[in-house]
Amino acid sequence: MQFTNQVILITGASNGIGRQLAVDLATRGAIVAGCGRSIPRLKEVLVEVRRASPRSAMIGCDVGDAEQVRGMMAKVLADYGRIDILINNAGVGMRQPFVDMPLETVEEIMRTNFLGAVYCAHEVLPSMIARGAGHIVNISSGAGKIGTLNMAAYCGSKFAMNGWSESLYYELKPLGVNVSIICPGPVQTEFNRDFRDSEPKSPAKLIVTTEAVCREVIKAIEKNKFEVILPRWLALLCAFKRHMPNLFRHLAQRRFDSYVSRIAPTPRGSRMTGTDGMD
Ligand SMILES: NC(=O)c1ccc[n+]([C@@H]2O[C@H](COP(=O)([O-])OP(=O)(O)OC[C@H]3O[C@@H](n4cnc5c(N)ncnc54)[C@H](OP(=O)(O)O)[C@@H]3O)[C@@H](O)[C@H]2O)c1
Repeated sequence: MQFTNQVILITGASNGIGRQLAVDLATRGAIVAGCGRSIPRLKEVLVEVRRASPRSAMIGCDVGDAEQVRGMMAKVLADYGRIDILINNAGVGMRQPFVDMPLETVEEIMRTNFLGAVYCAHEVLPSMIARGAGHIVNISSGAGKIGTLNMAAYCGSKFAMNGWSESLYYELKPLGVNVSIICPGPVQTEFNRDFRDSEPKSPAKLIVTTEAVCREVIKAIEKNKFEVILPRWLALLCAFKRHMPNLFRHLAQRRFDSYVSRIAPTPRGSRMTGTDGMD
């Protein structure tokens, strides 16, 4: 019954893991405020969530836009008086060699996955600290523990999230606010629909379901765990990397080597540099 009448803000609640979390937590009695950019999808989720939790709401918000986040947080705090738990789940991903990835895509990934969580936490923390209570749950990834081929921008965003979360943990614990990170292996959602069949494919043992991720999120909140890595195989791989980093990197390189594109990247056109045209 721990979640009854708890106000839980979930970013990226219109789809995938966030949607499942919204439904599961509403069923446990929480008041869910969810956000996303797709209003039609949010409306669908709201119908489902309100069956269990009539006071729940969905709000259109791009978490990569600090102004929109400020507006959303102000509305939720005004409507419910507090936010007990913030779940930073909104995220985007892309698998592509880094040199071929436009900087705009790198920026979008960092802005959504990392800065989006930062903006939300920055807005909600003063009220949590004032009450001496609260929990911030950051949905990270196995890609925040282990660098993966052709996922440099995504891994960068999730490693950043993990380092930020670890630092926040120390800063906030004495103030009564808990921090958790959840690092799942690949989950079959819309997130990776376009690249899940590209090589190198994720080993079947590392794949998890949205339901399993949600169970672990709920357990992490209930038991106040800092870090959860799932499935167990991924946790074992992370332990292997931690204890034998050189051997791990050697074996990973051997696995990835045949998938590295040997073709020179296409020139990105005639971009001006600082000194071009200054004769
Ligand atoms: N699927 C995986 O393999 C996997 C594995 C490990 C970790 N994760 C992490 O789990 C989280 C959820 O991913 P998922 O698999 O559930 O993906 P998903 O099915 O694509 O859902 C992503 C959610 O994030 C929202 N979102 C994306 N950009 C946003 C933005 N700028 N502002 C607000 N909302 C935004 C989407 O809503 P709108 O489109 O309506 O904005 C959607 O609700 C992500 O952080 C992801 O990195 C995923």
